[in-house]
Amino acid sequence: MAAYAYETHDYDVVVVGAGGAGLRATLGMAEQGLRTACVTKVFPTRSHTVAAQGGIAASLGNMGPDSWQWHMYDTVKGSDWLGDTDAMEYLAREAPKAVYELEHYGVPFSRTEEGKIYQRPFGGHTTEFGEGPPVQRTCAAADRTGHAILHTLYGQSLKQKAEFFIEYFALDLIITDGRCTGVVAWKLDDGTMHVFNAKMVVLATGGYGRAYFSATSAHTCTGDGGGMVARAGLPLQDMEFVQFHPTGIYGSGCLITEGARGEGGYLTNSEGERFMERYAPTYKDLASRDVVSRCMTIEIREGRGVGEHKDHIHLHLDHLPPETLHERLPGISESARIFAGVDVTREPIPVLPTVHYNMGGIPTNYWGEVLNPQPGNPDAIFPGLMAVGEAGCASVHGANRLGSNSLIDLVVFGRAAAIRAGQVVNPAERTAPVNKPAVDAILGRFDRFRYADGGVPTAELRLEMQRTMQADAAVFRTDKTLAEGVEKMTAVAGKIDDLKVTDRSLIWNSDLMETLELANLMPNALATIVAAEARKESRGAHAHEDYPNRDDVNWRVHSIAHVEGVKVTLSTRPVHLDPLTTEAEGGIEMKKIAPKARVY
Ligand code: FUM
Repeated sequence: MAAYAYETHDYDVVVVGAGGAGLRATLGMAEQGLRTACVTKVFPTRSHTVAAQGGIAASLGNMGPDSWQWHMYDTVKGSDWLGDTDAMEYLAREAPKAVYELEHYGVPFSRTEEGKIYQRPFGGHTTEFGEGPPVQRTCAAADRTGHAILHTLYGQSLKQKAEFFIEYFALDLIITDGRCTGVVAWKLDDGTMHVFNAKMVVLATGGYGRAYFSATSAHTCTGDGGGMVARAGLPLQDMEFVQFHPTGIYGSGCLITEGARGEGGYLTNSEGERFMERYAPTYKDLASRDVVSRCMTIEIREGRGVGEHKDHIHLHLDHLPPETLHERLPGISESARIFAGVDVTREPIPVLPTVHYNMGGIPTNYWGEVLNPQPGNPDAIFPGLMAVGEAGCASVHGANRLGSNSLIDLVVFGRAAAIRAGQVVNPAERTAPVNKPAVDAILGRFDRFRYADGGVPTAELRLEMQRTMQADAAVFRTDKTLAEGVEKMTAVAGKIDDLKVTDRSLIWNSDLMETLELANLMPNALATIVAAEARKESRGAHAHEDYPNRDDVNWRVHSIAHVEGVKVTLSTRPVHLDPLTTEAEGGIEMKKIAPKARVY
C-alpha cells in the first residue's frame, strides 16, 4: 500500500454535497455559529439541483385558495400511502416558511401582476383533499428554479462564513465506537488526502440516477452517500421506488419540465389522441407522474407510440402563446431545440419516461437524523450522522414523489437538519481525536482501487449495470424480469473485485474517480433490484404486473436493505401513521387520510 499523509480539519459540522439540501443545511448551520465545512465533488452551483426546472411546492395561495393540509393530503396520496405521516405533515406545514425565507435570501422568483411569487400547476397537486380542481402551488423562477435557488444559497452560505472544500471527493465515513466522527476526502486537483473530524456529518450527496442507462440525472448522481452508508453497515430504505419522469427528451433523456404541462402542454399518441383523458379523466395530463409514465408506456406497448419505431410520445406546446413560452418556459424551449431539433412553437417534442428520482435512500427521521433500526426500536438514531435531500429518505415521498416536492424537500429538511444540529451539537466541546485505524482502513480501500489490475474496465462494468437496471427494474416489472435482474445484478456487482484501473495518478484521475463512483452506485443498484423483487404488490412507482394491486395488509411497510458485498439482507420498518397534529387549524379540519384507491 502506498503511504498517504493527510491533513486534518476540525469542524462542528461537515456537510458532504452542495446541492439544494447541502447548501440549505450548510447555511442554517453557519447562521447559528456552528463551524461548518461543506465538502463537494463539484463546484456548488454545478450540483444537480441546478437542473431542477419547474419549481418548488408550497401552499402560499397566491393564485387561488390553498392550504398546507391540502398539500399534505396530495403528498400522502402521491406517496401511495407509504410516506411517514409526521414527515409529510412537517414538509407541508413548513413549506411556506421555507419558501419565504428563500425569497428573503434573494431567490429571483417569477412574479404575478401584483408582485407576488408566481405559482403554476403541477401533477397531483389539488384542492379540497383531492376533490377540487388542480391548484397552482408550484413556485417558479421561470423554468430555472433550481438554478436560482442554488446560486442564492451558495452566496448566502459564503456570507455566513461557511467554508467550502470544492472538488474534494468523499471516500468514506469515519465510524468510532458506534458513531460517525468524520469523513475522509480526496482532493481531486492536487491528490492530497483530508480527514474532516466533526461532531456531525450531514450527507447531502443526491440520488443514484446513474445506476440506469437513461436518466435525467447528471453523471455526478452516483449515490455516494448510499455507498458510504452501506459500507458502514447501515441500511438503505425503500430502494425499489424509482421515479420515471414522463417527459425526458427521446434519445438524450434531457428533462422537459412538468411545468410544460402545468402551463397547458399535453401529450398525444400516434393517432393524435390526448390519451390521458382516457386514463385520468379529472386531472388528465396533470395526474401524478408515475400514473402518466405508465399510461405512456401502455400506449407505446399497444402500438400507439409515435416516430419511425413507434417508441415514444409527443408533447405539444405549439398551441401556447409565444409570450408564455418565452416568459415561463425559456429553458425547455432551448433544450428542445438543442436536444431534439424541435421548434416548440411549431412542432411537438418527442418524449419518453426517463429515470428521474430515487424515492428511497438513507432512512432518517424528519430532523434528518439517520436511523439504524433495531429490534424493538425501528427508529433508533445512529449518532453523529444526518442525511438530507435525495440521498435521504425521511420518508415524505413514499412510493412516488409529486413533482416540485423535491425542491421543497431539499430546503425544508436541509433547514430542519440545521435546526436539530443547533440543539445537539455543542460548539464548546472538542472534537474526538482522529480515529487513525479507521482512516487507514479507508485509505487502504482507496489504494486497492487505485492499483486495481483485474480484467474489467470501469466503463464496461458500469454499462453492464446500467443496462441491467434499465431492462429489469423498469416502469413495469414482473416476477420474471425482477428475478433475472437480481441474478444479473449479483453477477455484475461481483465483478467489482475484478476492475481494471489504468491511471494510477492522484491528480485529476477521472478513471479512479469513476471507479469509486461505480463502487458507490453498485450497492444502491443491488438494493433497488433485490427490494423490488421482494415486494409482491404494486404501489406508486413500483408497478408489478404479477401483483397489480396495492396490498396494505402485508406491504404498507418500508423495506430496509443491508448491503454487504453482493449480499442484500432485507427487513421492514413500520410506516409512521400518526400525524403531528389532529386538531383543526386555520378553519380547516384535518381529515383522517386513510388509504383508498388512488385515482386522478
Ligand atoms: O418537471 C420538473 O420540473 C421536475 C420537477 C421535480 O422533479 O420536482
